[in-house]
Amino acid sequence: MTTTQSRIEPLTEVDQFVNGEHFLLIDGKKAEANSGKRLDVFDPATGRILTHVPDGDAVDVDRAVQAARRAFEGPWRRLTASERGRIIWRLADLIEQNLEEFAQLDAIDNGKPLTIARMVDVPLTVDVFRYMAGYTTKLEGSTYNLNLPGDWHSFSRKEPIGVIGAIIPWNFPLFMVSVKLAPALAAGNTVVLKPAEQTPLSALRFGELLEEAGFPPGVVNIVTGSGEIAGAALVAHPDVDKITFTGSTSVGKQIARAVATDLKKVSLEMGGKSANLVFADADLDVAIQGAAQAIFFNHGQACVAGARLFVESSVFDEVVSGISAIATGMTLGPALDPSSEMGPLVSKEQQQRVLGYLEAGSHDGARVAGAGAAPDNGGYYVAPTVLVDVRNEMSVQREEIFGPVLTAVPFTDVDDAIAQANDTSYGLAAGCFTTNLSTAHKVSNALQAGNIYVNCWGVTDPSAPFGGYKQSGWGREFGREVLEYYTETKAVHMKL
Ligand code: NAI
Ligand code: MG
Repeated sequence: MTTTQSRIEPLTEVDQFVNGEHFLLIDGKKAEANSGKRLDVFDPATGRILTHVPDGDAVDVDRAVQAARRAFEGPWRRLTASERGRIIWRLADLIEQNLEEFAQLDAIDNGKPLTIARMVDVPLTVDVFRYMAGYTTKLEGSTYNLNLPGDWHSFSRKEPIGVIGAIIPWNFPLFMVSVKLAPALAAGNTVVLKPAEQTPLSALRFGELLEEAGFPPGVVNIVTGSGEIAGAALVAHPDVDKITFTGSTSVGKQIARAVATDLKKVSLEMGGKSANLVFADADLDVAIQGAAQAIFFNHGQACVAGARLFVESSVFDEVVSGISAIATGMTLGPALDPSSEMGPLVSKEQQQRVLGYLEAGSHDGARVAGAGAAPDNGGYYVAPTVLVDVRNEMSVQREEIFGPVLTAVPFTDVDDAIAQANDTSYGLAAGCFTTNLSTAHKVSNALQAGNIYVNCWGVTDPSAPFGGYKQSGWGREFGREVLEYYTETKAVHMKL
């Protein structure tokens, strides 16, 4: 660990925005929270309070839902598909024009290195809006040849669902906005967005671009607040037609139970404990780099993090020591320090949760094969850590840690590797490193996960469907497939 003085100075606009007053966005206007209460937003690099945002409650959510309903029935509906597409595209342009500002906001708020926010979070956000903008004009139904006597004309229409409640987490604050909003808007829905309480800033800044992009008021509303109050109110609201959620499996299950009362539609993208299999025939340099990136990217705070490593016995020691060396050599520091390869975790709570898992692992008999050094300065740092001597019943092996902690376990052959990899309640991602084409295919077919990576990790692209098997989710994001989750299909039968 090194600390340098070469911190990047934030843009003046960013300083002013962070330190300015923050408001909800309801019906195109800035609004105070009904309660007058505010939530503290912390700087993860220091633990100090950065700013405050409104603590929205059920009254605010209700106002936002009403505005979204009016926009859905009115101006948003009346636009042509191509006008809607142009507005979404213009929004992408505006985000791109403000790339540095958004990257700095997410780096400051979340703690991720600025270089990552610049290279990954913001460009991907722009791509997702652009990709989805093209679909406004491509929603189409089919015609059907009924097996009935007489003349018939039967066809289907794709219609928007209505008002979408979008609840997002803190690990990719701005990108998550695009993941939920781009398909919802492209399909003609309107939205109430509830950002994560830890990282509301880029979503609020995003809200300021909507009018300039051309969105009629109320098409996108933003209510900051806690999950327990604002999030739960959105889920319970009778005039919300669908909830789209990314976050923990436990809250996802709560949402699934809550929507059972009125059966609103729901998409859930939740946790993972993804298995990465390294075969002895792999290019080990590629595999070691890849396995380290799979777990340490975004400090392990990624739903697809390759958290469980399985290595063919003959190369186990070599691979583990290679990854341990990477962990040991990593520079941890504040997001705005260009030498930081890893920043702090997002919150004190997340830091304590991850440290708790490390303690439990050590108590259960797991051993640290290699660990970096975490600055001890009030920031929410956790050292990147590789654990061995792990058994499958340990909590470090069964539960999502969501931090820079890798477990490594040996396997004997392909079947053993697949069996160990699939022995989990999650199914978001999995993958392997191998140079054997047959192994690559066999493993890809056998792994029970929605996203498979071969000789790579974490590939995320708006063109390819993304989502989970098992307890990792319901539904898919991205690609053509996501539109199925933001539209209703209506079959129309006409007797001629
Ligand atoms: P969380 O699931 O509590 O929070 C995610 C979002 O849901 C936030 O906007 C939050 O305000 C909202 N929320 C919380 N409780 C709610 C409720 N009862 N009703 C409606 N909305 C609610 O996740 P949290 O507490 O931030 O992190 C806990 C763990 O969740 C992490 O350690 C990680 O394992 C997992 N997680 C997974 C993510 C993923 O990308 N799949 C992202 C964030 C967390
Ligand atoms: Mg929570």
